[in-house]
Amino acid sequence: MSQLPMLSAVLCFIVVAAATAADEAFVYNGFVGANLSLNGFAEITGDGLIKLTNDTEQAQGHAFYPLPLRFKDSATGAPRSFSATFVFAIVPEHSDVSGHGIAFAIAPSVGIQGSMPSQHLGLFNVSNIGSPSNHIVAVEFDTVMSVEFYDINNNHVGIDVNTLVSANSSPVAYFESGIPKNLTLISGDPMQVWVDFDGRDLLLQVVVAPLSVSKPEIPIVSSKINLSSIVLDEMFVGFSASTGAATGSHYILGWSFNLNGDAQPLNISKLPPVPLPRSQKKKSDVLAISLPLATVILSSICITAMIFIAIRRRKFAELLEDWELEYGPHRFSYKDLYRATRGFNEANLLGAGGFGRVYRGVLPSSKVEVAVKRVTHESKQGIKEFISEVVSMGKLKHRNLVQLLGYCRRQGELLLVYDYMPNRSLDKFIFYKDRPRLDWSQRFRVVKGVAAGLYYLHDGWEQVVIHRDIKASNVLLDGEFNGKLGDFGLARLYDHGENPHTTHIVGTLGYLAPELSKTGKATKETDVYAFGAFLLEVACGRRPLEVKGSADSPGLVEFALECWKKKALLEARDADLGEELAAAAEEEVEAVLKLGLLCSHPDPMARPTMKQVVQFLEGDASLPSMLPEGLIDGVATLKYDESFDDFLKLYPSSSHAEALLQQSSPLFSGGG
Ligand SMILES: *[C@@H]1O[C@H](CO)[C@@H](O)[C@H](O)[C@H]1NC(C)=O
Ligand SMILES: *[C@@H]1O[C@H](CO)[C@@H](O)[C@H](O)[C@H]1NC(C)=O
Ligand SMILES: *[C@@H]1O[C@H](CO)[C@@H](O)[C@H](O)[C@H]1NC(C)=O
Ligand SMILES: *[C@@H]1O[C@H](CO)[C@@H](O)[C@H](O)[C@H]1NC(C)=O
Ligand SMILES: *[C@@H]1O[C@H](CO)[C@@H](O)[C@H](O)[C@H]1NC(C)=O
Ligand SMILES: *[C@@H]1O[C@H](CO)[C@@H](O)[C@H](O)[C@H]1NC(C)=O
Repeated sequence: MSQLPMLSAVLCFIVVAAATAADEAFVYNGFVGANLSLNGFAEITGDGLIKLTNDTEQAQGHAFYPLPLRFKDSATGAPRSFSATFVFAIVPEHSDVSGHGIAFAIAPSVGIQGSMPSQHLGLFNVSNIGSPSNHIVAVEFDTVMSVEFYDINNNHVGIDVNTLVSANSSPVAYFESGIPKNLTLISGDPMQVWVDFDGRDLLLQVVVAPLSVSKPEIPIVSSKINLSSIVLDEMFVGFSASTGAATGSHYILGWSFNLNGDAQPLNISKLPPVPLPRSQKKKSDVLAISLPLATVILSSICITAMIFIAIRRRKFAELLEDWELEYGPHRFSYKDLYRATRGFNEANLLGAGGFGRVYRGVLPSSKVEVAVKRVTHESKQGIKEFISEVVSMGKLKHRNLVQLLGYCRRQGELLLVYDYMPNRSLDKFIFYKDRPRLDWSQRFRVVKGVAAGLYYLHDGWEQVVIHRDIKASNVLLDGEFNGKLGDFGLARLYDHGENPHTTHIVGTLGYLAPELSKTGKATKETDVYAFGAFLLEVACGRRPLEVKGSADSPGLVEFALECWKKKALLEARDADLGEELAAAAEEEVEAVLKLGLLCSHPDPMARPTMKQVVQFLEGDASLPSMLPEGLIDGVATLKYDESFDDFLKLYPSSSHAEALLQQSSPLFSGGG
């Protein structure tokens, strides 16, 4: 073998590398006039800061170097070393919470298509998170603890590969003479970061320090990553930041990058200054104006303070009685919940249901994301029993139940604190045409999950818990679209009628078993009936009663039965599931429809138990053979049930009735 071609190849390679090297390093000491690719809320301020987000909620911003960079050696395909340093600052809107954080990212495109704000940091969305096709490597500085991503706290730095479940993470700190010193991301102070990747040992290392400190030796977080299987040949580098319910302004002050050796150091004295938080700015303005008036203000301060304290006391007043003391750990203070939801701000509103309004919040002490439900409750009756039930419900733990964390009680209202479910309720994904729909395998998984959760409520615990209000809008979805049953037992609160001679039926029209109007008693069987309606709505993509201004419009049960009688049960399915279903999916859809009809049987004793339902769905038992004709008669009687007529008399306007149905009217009187 001749040495000449090889030598010339090596020479040629060196020349190419040297020629491109100049294009693979850049330094920005401030960004005045910089040509970056910006999108979302990102902008370059007059001072030369990159402002990735401002205080707008649910915002995201990306700022990327506009040219692609070659992250793999073109000859060997091995990942190349790189080095980056940048200075960032997070200025919170309020001094104690800020969301959601900032990330340095290597991505296949400038900006990131389809990304979501909030806990996704503008890097991923609910469907692509975790997928190897993302080709995203990021270093996150996260200021909110997202339980779904196993975040360690609300002030951490993590290395993320294609997902926000960090490969490695650590509280933000730096080492000085071997001793860790904590840093607070949301202090508003600028911090410098160094990100170094060594292509030989495949080690990614991150160092953070305050501006006054030179680069510490010991990395705060590092991870071995084989970049060659993650990055594409050509990639883009930049920054992403997002806000959620908690907001803050995310800034980059300066940035230096090099694909061939150490990034050139930044000149700190040239970096633009970071603006003060809005609240502090206001404060300093006020002070400047008020100094001459100091004496006047001093004398009025006492009076103001007293009024303030009085108002505050009233504002945060809560009810706490002796009998509640034993529930200490489950009790939240109203002040914490008020702060968590930013004063029950409309912007934090997740939804309004039959039982009250639900707000998203971040608990001030632990920074855990929660959902806070405000239930108005006028009567004092039964509250003690209910609280003891709430506390015991907090002990119910199942992966298909929304975890209840605790409660708080005020005059006339009750606040319930639950785990936050990022994807909210199932109905949004099956009834709303403008939203992405769930495919069949996702729906089937949710159905099986809800069945398991309800089985646990009925039989899995020391006490039988009747849910009383099963429907798609009470099924919540976590970050991975697992179905979790919410609101269990809540209907109970409304079950104590003021007049002992009338029984209030609780639940939602269309999900109420026919016998309820006669007995008024919620049982396992009435839950199974509602579960049947739920199965049908998930498979058909329609609500059980679509009120079209007439009481005669067929409900979902009749509709499915009609299809079955025509020997075309599958026609009842949601058209959005697609024209053609795989044979296995077709079988599942048909089984779910039949099971839904069986659960909707007018005779409570003919309905299966939840244990059987779980067995059918898991394929451990097969459905009994049945004919549509057997179910028809019962349904016909249901149609002329008195309570239904009463209901329509009570709410003759169809639009009113429709609104009530959509809001899941909590209360209405049945004939009895
Ligand atoms: C900014 O960079 C892009 C990509 O290299 C280029 O097309 C564009 O002309 C540049 N704009 C300015 C104002 O330099
Ligand atoms: C945030 O920026 C957007 C546009 O970039 C602007 O419309 C909005 O008013 C800003 N919001 C705040 C709170 O500064
Ligand atoms: C998620 O992002 C991908 C692109 O990465 C996009 O194709 C998809 O539509 C997005 N999905 C959602 C639910 O936004
Ligand atoms: C630093 O932060 C860690 C983790 O948040 C904490 O455990 C530790 O007590 C803090 N140290 C100091 C000195 O504040
Ligand atoms: C890294 O991944 C590439 C491609 O997936 C593989 O060829 C290579 O052997 C891996 N390197 C190490 C050190 O595991
Ligand atoms: C940093 O910038 C200042 C002001 O422009 C300049 O005087 C100084 O020499 C620079 N320092 C370095 C190390 O380049």
